[in-house]
Amino acid sequence: MPALDGRTVIVTGANSGVGFGTATAFARAGAHTVLAVRDLDRGAEAARRIGGDHEVRRLDLADLGSVRAFADAWDGEIAILVNNAGVAMVPEGRTADGFEMHFGTNHLGHFALTNLLLPQITDRVVTLSSGLHRSGSIDFDDLDFRKSGYNPVRAYARAKLANLLFTLELERRLRRAGSGIRATAAHPGYAATELGTRDRNKYLVGLVHLAGRFFAQTPERAALPTLFAATQDLPGASYVGPDGRGELHGYPALVGRSAAASDVRTAERLWDVSEELTAVSFGLD
Ligand SMILES: NC(=O)c1ccc[n+]([C@@H]2O[C@H](COP(=O)([O-])OP(=O)(O)OC[C@H]3O[C@@H](n4cnc5c(N)ncnc54)[C@H](OP(=O)(O)O)[C@@H]3O)[C@@H](O)[C@H]2O)c1
Repeated sequence: MPALDGRTVIVTGANSGVGFGTATAFARAGAHTVLAVRDLDRGAEAARRIGGDHEVRRLDLADLGSVRAFADAWDGEIAILVNNAGVAMVPEGRTADGFEMHFGTNHLGHFALTNLLLPQITDRVVTLSSGLHRSGSIDFDDLDFRKSGYNPVRAYARAKLANLLFTLELERRLRRAGSGIRATAAHPGYAATELGTRDRNKYLVGLVHLAGRFFAQTPERAALPTLFAATQDLPGASYVGPDGRGELHGYPALVGRSAAASDVRTAERLWDVSEELTAVSFGLD
């Protein structure tokens, strides 16, 4: 990690899991670390453990009003924005604006946040995806699974594919605008976190956590791909994950993505649809 003294970094979902590991490393490197969280109490508790130069701000990505309020209240330069927060495999639900919960939170919330903050960002936008993006597909006629029937795994995979397509198109637009900002993506491999466990059967969650102790990476270790994507000199739209077998564990390396995640036409169309749905357009136009 290079020293980040005097630089501001925003991490969404920094109170837990990979986001917590990421924010801790940024704070240790001297960055002014902003924990963008939906629950201020959980954020304050995490900030206490992180230490360093930090602040906690409220951001609910499942509510575009909250995303706008966060961006409107922001003043000053942001070196790095990390779009880390996410929900996974939750029961069927809608965001405050009526979008399917995974797509609305993981993709549309970050889409709006990034574009609203873009004029103040100077260096990097890192967006978290997942190995599960490979089983995702974008059906523009049924983005919220109303026609095909809701499936939580497919909904999560679609949102994680959208995170990669967003990075691809953001990078293309940044280059076209002559911007110095780079868009990159990362995934943590298999990390023992709270992901997908909230409001679930406590015995099942106990089992997942037990398995995690033996097989998963710690959140600190799982944060390495994000930190690499945020601070190393990489080509735009790079995708970083762990280098071990199945990309589940290991040290950060450039990793591959599905053909669907490299499809520039889908990326462009998804961008246009996301602009329509959020009423937020490219931040540097
Ligand atoms: N864990 C893995 O093995 C794994 C694998 C591949 C990819 N990932 C990706 O890694 C990222 C971090 O996940 P994690 O494993 O660290 O999970 P986690 O421990 O559940 O952390 C997720 C974070 O997102 C926040 N969040 C959820 N909904 C939000 C909303 N509406 N507004 C603002 N924040 C919200 C959560 O806040 P609350 O605490 O308030 O719920 C929490 O801080 C996600 O993008 C996930 O898709 C994780």
